[in-house]
Amino acid sequence: MPQSGNVRCESEECLSSGLQDAAVERLSAPSSPSDSKPSTMVLSLLHSSRLKYVSLGVLVLQTTSLVLTMRYSRTLKEDGPRYLASSAVVSAEVLKILACTLLVFMENNCSLRAMNQLLKEEIVNKPVETLKLAIPSGIYTLQNNLLYVALSNLDAATYQVTYQLKILTTALFSVSMLGRRLGLYQWLSLLFLMAGVTLVQWPTESEGDSEQVILSAGSQFVGLMAVLMACVSSGFAGVYFEKILKETKQSVWVRNIQLGLFSFLFGFVGMILYDGQRVRQSGVFQGYNTITCTVVFLQAVGGLVVAVVIKYADNILKGFAASLSIIVSALISYFLLEDFNPTRVFFLGAVLVISATFLYGYEHRPASSSTIKV
Ligand code: C5P
Repeated sequence: MPQSGNVRCESEECLSSGLQDAAVERLSAPSSPSDSKPSTMVLSLLHSSRLKYVSLGVLVLQTTSLVLTMRYSRTLKEDGPRYLASSAVVSAEVLKILACTLLVFMENNCSLRAMNQLLKEEIVNKPVETLKLAIPSGIYTLQNNLLYVALSNLDAATYQVTYQLKILTTALFSVSMLGRRLGLYQWLSLLFLMAGVTLVQWPTESEGDSEQVILSAGSQFVGLMAVLMACVSSGFAGVYFEKILKETKQSVWVRNIQLGLFSFLFGFVGMILYDGQRVRQSGVFQGYNTITCTVVFLQAVGGLVVAVVIKYADNILKGFAASLSIIVSALISYFLLEDFNPTRVFFLGAVLVISATFLYGYEHRPASSSTIKV
């Protein structure tokens, strides 16, 4: 594991546990005129703790509804052209930039002048800082497109469980890029995770006629490759964004605008390169309907919620939220969409994946008081 000279606490957990220690110290220490009020500290702790759980709850809802709506929108048979996934990705970025701009406006006491000044200072006057966001942005754009490929070829539940491998990639990138140390149980839980995902992908013998099997095997492979690439990209981009967010003090919404601007640029170029012909023929918004707008909206909300979760909770808790949403979407996929028939092997795999996530989180908590090397 990489070691570096400077021992420094950089994780959100570490920061929040440090904050708690500071609060306890302040509450027990005799008050001095220079001390800020303990009640203010407690209030701010309660506020961030509430934000943490609210953001995690919203992430569970958002992940579940996005997966199901996206899957539904990609399999829906309608007259006319189907909407372009590349266009939906660009639309979601535009929506995200608008929402983040509104949030920065509100953070600056609804002063347009203050907002403009801040954005100019942070985005235009610091080109190197802004350029740093081009890396996660390019990767997220690729990832957001890959997820459409995955959900066009895999059922919602298989996709969700396989996508849990991003916990493994996130862990590996956290170790190599942030110098985070993992305990034995955490490594063990990652093995459980891989075993679980393998079981979920295990071919079943109860498939339909042979033509269907050949078609579905081909598309399963495409879907699987797409989701595996998305796992690598999610791990890298998440850890990279976390590093930027925790190394600097700037508002998460300003960082999101920087990220969104590049994502819009990359997404737009991607759309022209990949779907240019179709865009020229039938326009950017061809095939858009209410479901498409819902997918775009949910994807934009997802970007905002992920940023809040990284700020107020951490990547491990983000994994918990994803695990919970697996259970919810498997149930909905089985009962409502009827496009999924869980076998015993799938069930065992899903249980392993979810247990692995909890085992990882269980080991992580006591370790949070230790330091993280950066
Ligand atoms: O699955 P994962 O957690 O990697 O998904 C992250 C999603 O959140 C991506 O769609 C990415 O574009 C979005 N995101 C964002 N703003 C951030 C971080 C992630 O829009 N600051």
